[in-house]
Amino acid sequence: MTMNDDAPLFSLFWENSKLNARTAPGFAERLDEDARAATQVAQLFHPGADRALRRPDDPLARVMAQRESRRAFRPAPLSEAQLGSLFYAFAHKPGAGRLLPSAGAKYPIEVFALLFDERAIVYYNGDTHALSVVGPAPSWDEVAPSVGLTLEGAPSALFVFVAFPGRVTGRYGERGGRFLLIECGQHAQSLALRVAHENLAGVEAGGLHDEPFKRWLRLDRTDAAIALGYAVGT
Ligand SMILES: Cc1cc2nc3c(=O)[nH]c(=O)nc-3n(C[C@H](O)[C@H](O)[C@H](O)COP(=O)(O)O)c2cc1C
Repeated sequence: MTMNDDAPLFSLFWENSKLNARTAPGFAERLDEDARAATQVAQLFHPGADRALRRPDDPLARVMAQRESRRAFRPAPLSEAQLGSLFYAFAHKPGAGRLLPSAGAKYPIEVFALLFDERAIVYYNGDTHALSVVGPAPSWDEVAPSVGLTLEGAPSALFVFVAFPGRVTGRYGERGGRFLLIECGQHAQSLALRVAHENLAGVEAGGLHDEPFKRWLRLDRTDAAIALGYAVGT
């Protein structure tokens, strides 16, 4: 990401939190240390009796309940119907508006994917619910060192959520940095629900290395920030 005059501290934060081949081993060591130390997730307790809530029993609740991170993939490719279903997570509504909200309707997140079955890198066009081909995709084995996931087998696709900070920081300054990360999470959750609905396997990838992905996606001369990955397969 180039220095952004509307949000210089966010630019600095982004630079400092980047991973690359040099910094990734230290990051992995830190995760191992945390895994050894962490025993319980913190929870908040309040005095007084809790008011019980009813659990919904509806189709949406059942899809939500099926969502989980799955890290083992079979070699079977994704079908056209499954691809259409997965990308629909980010579609625009016919007419106006989109399935996902965006602060100030600035839409700072764009969705790309590396489709390993057909060795293509694609960009998702939510208006037409169509894929534009960006170029040929490297193999999963080539990208894996820049993804930071430990998987069984190879995924069929790696979705990449790319943020264009200038779209939100022009309006919101530094606070725009928060919004684009929030919106990235909304994209990931929407995809997670489609993955669950299709009974596919998938997991978020928080450790993508910015620079190689910017090169693969042909974004190296832009202010694009590689925000999050999501591996999906059968
Ligand atoms: C922002 C984010 C980044 C993540 N990155 C990774 C990752 O790099 N590798 C991985 O194995 N899991 C990753 N996960 C998945 C979490 O480990 C997983 O959600 C958590 O263990 C809870 O399990 P569940 O998703 O099955 O409920 C990530 C999740 C989130 C929300």
